Amino acid sequence: MATGKTFYIETFGCQMNVHDSEKVIGTLQHEGYRQVEREEDAGLILYNTCSIRDKAEQKVFHRLDEYKRQHRNGKRFAVLGCVAQQEGEKIFARAPYVSLVSGSASYRNLPEMLKRLEAGEMRITGLDDRQTDETFETEFTARQNPYRAYITIVEGCDKFCAYCVVPYTRGKERSRGSNSVLAEAHRVADQGYTEIQLLGQNVNSYRDPEGKRSFAELLAAVGEVPGIRRVRFTTSHPRDFTRDIVEAIDAVPTLCDHVHLPVQSGSSRILKAMNREYTRESYLERISWIKAAHRPISISTDIIVGFPGETADDLTQTMDLLAEVEYDCVFGFKYSSRPNTPALHLIDSIPKAEKVARLKVVLDRQREIQRINYARHLGQTMEVMVEGINTVRGQIIGRSSQNIPVNFTCAQPIAPAPGSYLQVIITATHPNSLVGKAV
Ligand code: SAH
Ligand code: SF4
Ligand code: F3S
Repeated sequence: MATGKTFYIETFGCQMNVHDSEKVIGTLQHEGYRQVEREEDAGLILYNTCSIRDKAEQKVFHRLDEYKRQHRNGKRFAVLGCVAQQEGEKIFARAPYVSLVSGSASYRNLPEMLKRLEAGEMRITGLDDRQTDETFETEFTARQNPYRAYITIVEGCDKFCAYCVVPYTRGKERSRGSNSVLAEAHRVADQGYTEIQLLGQNVNSYRDPEGKRSFAELLAAVGEVPGIRRVRFTTSHPRDFTRDIVEAIDAVPTLCDHVHLPVQSGSSRILKAMNREYTRESYLERISWIKAAHRPISISTDIIVGFPGETADDLTQTMDLLAEVEYDCVFGFKYSSRPNTPALHLIDSIPKAEKVARLKVVLDRQREIQRINYARHLGQTMEVMVEGINTVRGQIIGRSSQNIPVNFTCAQPIAPAPGSYLQVIITATHPNSLVGKAV
């Protein structure tokens, strides 16, 4: 039964969306709403959507329709996030029972939009686009992750990669003042968090509006906040990846041994078509800075296969790059054409089956690289932060500073709490994880 002001929220997409939902939840709670775990129990159902690939908008409509078919009673629906911004008022035509449509650049108006919703208004929109200069700062963040505190430092994107919807769904790039970021870092440390993840679609394109700190300086300052033991940041754009970021990691022990640096393709020709604003060579130069660090910095990446016009030779160049960099983790995607993007006008020339085959070749190759990389950790002792328990296997799940999953056993009778740190000796290695024993 739906009683009082209750809401259910489901989140799709990247960490920025996950963190936006934490802020939306905090705002709803401040407005007197109570979060429930099941859609059935909620008066207001919110989907915070992602539009990055694969006919995302159709999936959202399918999900809404499915749910609506089962429950015809007086529930209200809100579509938030990137599909909301992308489809805008078209959502009302396609799913007339939806009352609120808002992209992330308008969430600061949520309290007002909720009041209108409660007053019975049917078609409420928050669709600020690339005009807005504001970031979504709120004091009402209801953090859902027990061990990791997200802090958004850059919102939106001005890069306009040919395949990507983000500049159209999250508005123009805008950074948050470094003093405000540091104040939040102190706040989460006071609340007991020891890990902070700084977020931005291009986190390292950060430009302090107060002109006080570069990205590397902000990173170092966050790492020096008392109580903080681990600082991560995602996602870095290769064009804006500067050497002082590596120097900061070398200098500040709390900055994790990990950089996620999406390359997308190993072919300069394809990178140019993608409008990535770097070449294979300039990317590899940045990799050489990371590899020259004193600390063992782990590198991960994103790859798109099957971008329009990608030849067998382009794919070979990507494969060679994988071997040269020796990544510790690769997220591989099949290109899909997306609304509004420049690449929409290119012919999506590579058949689906061929994209599937290319992705398999890439991921199989990467699996072998990782098998060798991870085997090097055998016998090492490393600090692992506990993230949860696998009750079926009786193992504790955690992560190393390098962001590698570590599954381990522990002799203590009581399982360590999420967020605690243990020294673990590695006793076996797999291509996607390490296995060990707490010492
Ligand atoms: N801002 C980050 C990542 C953005 S989205 C960056 O610039 O790297 C995360 C990943 O999704 C991208 O790195 C890319 O690999 C993938 N992606 C984005 N659009 C895509 C599309 N149209 N088709 C397939 N993969 C896509
Ligand atoms: Fe998308 Fe490119 Fe911006 Fe990343 S940098 S969010 S891939 S447009
Ligand atoms: Fe998806 Fe929007 Fe993030 S499209 S990946 S939720 S920025």
